[in-house]
Amino acid sequence: MTDQSSNQMWGGRFAAGPDAIMEAINASIGYDQRMAAQDIAGSRAHAAMLAATGVITDNDAEAIREGLLTVLSEIESGTFQFSTALEDIHMNVEARLKDIIGEPAGRLHTGRSRNDQVATDFKLWVRDQLDAAESGILALIKALLAQAEAGADWVMPGFTHLQVAQPVTWGHHMMAYVEMFGRDLSRVRDARARMNESPLGAAALAGTSFPIDRDMTATALGFDRPAANSLDAVSDRDFALEFLSTASICAMHLSRFAEELVIWSTAQFRFVTLSDRFSTGSSIMPQKKNPDAAELIRAKVGRIFGANTALMMVMKGLPLAYSKDMQEDKEQVFDAADNWMLALAAMEGMVKDMTANRVELAAAAGSGFSTATDLADWMVRVLKVPFRDAHHVTGTLVAMAEDRGCDLPDLSLADMQGVHAGITADIFTVLGVQNSVNSRMSYGGTAPAQVRQQVARWSEILGA
Ligand code: ARG
Repeated sequence: MTDQSSNQMWGGRFAAGPDAIMEAINASIGYDQRMAAQDIAGSRAHAAMLAATGVITDNDAEAIREGLLTVLSEIESGTFQFSTALEDIHMNVEARLKDIIGEPAGRLHTGRSRNDQVATDFKLWVRDQLDAAESGILALIKALLAQAEAGADWVMPGFTHLQVAQPVTWGHHMMAYVEMFGRDLSRVRDARARMNESPLGAAALAGTSFPIDRDMTATALGFDRPAANSLDAVSDRDFALEFLSTASICAMHLSRFAEELVIWSTAQFRFVTLSDRFSTGSSIMPQKKNPDAAELIRAKVGRIFGANTALMMVMKGLPLAYSKDMQEDKEQVFDAADNWMLALAAMEGMVKDMTANRVELAAAAGSGFSTATDLADWMVRVLKVPFRDAHHVTGTLVAMAEDRGCDLPDLSLADMQGVHAGITADIFTVLGVQNSVNSRMSYGGTAPAQVRQQVARWSEILGA
């Protein structure tokens, strides 16, 4: 005899319902309800296909498809009663459909399993997030392009080891991030194209004996084609991992930029002023303006990368095909997606609002003997001195300036000639920072003309 409390989806084989703890560990409805719209879209496509192939009647399909819309509106309006006993979104929706339309609801699950159903729902959800990420990255790139265009010739120090290295332009620095986020954008697009195969119809693992039309459901759901192997279709989550790894790399880029904004907005640097809209104050120190948004963006990479690692660990030892372990995929992806989108939007907002402090940037650009390489290059070009020797002479001059507490252009010609007799007054023309950046005309270099060329290239790519 079947226990009253046993599951209505598989109660036939069970004499008793689950222990409360079993129910707690098993249920995913607390979070997978986020896939309700995808679940209903998948079921509606499946029902239409079952009717088109003669597996169920047109009338039943129509009742199912209409009933599912009612379920969706209940979920969207917040009146739907989710039940933990019904474990997940798939069974919650189907049970409610049965309440609404009765017997035909029991025909919906013909020729499919929750295994292909969940893979389909989740892919649709992840695909939407890739589209959202694409928009978020594009908006951020546009904000960076605007900064780069405005400041194509503003000088600032370029760093290596966070020590002043050579002068660069503000526009060049902004465009470095455009390249990084541009690659993130291409990773997002690649991931979307690769994942866009429909698992629906793979059924539990082996396919089905019903004459289903997988091309029809694939097309209805916007997939490029049905996945070609039913075992693979229900058991891999590489699409979710690719989403997480793409998110991780992008979050890493966001984090590096955020770190720069944190440093640049300090009283010591004062390279940028962040807007009030993206800063917070202190409850005790009235003077404080903290770059919290940048700090939180910097931190987000931790949880996003953590999600990637966690899902890798979940998946790495699973034999084919579906195992319940895979239910642990969703919370990681949901959390990472939410935080990735938020970080992208916050960074876009900060970049749009921030002010580059040109005076401070220019003053810092000339500090730290930043044009020493220009001096050495001049000796190579004009005096035909081998670069290694020019490097040595310049090093000696830097040490001299450091000793005297002055900058390179403050040394006299006599000082310089004392170190290398061939040096002429011409040298002073290359020691200025503006000259230094203007001279770096090699492709991809920091010269304003190069930066403008890259801004134009990106504007054309984006159709902006
Ligand atoms: N809630 C499940 C998940 O997220 C759905 C698939 C369940 N399949 C099964 N054979 N128990 O993975």
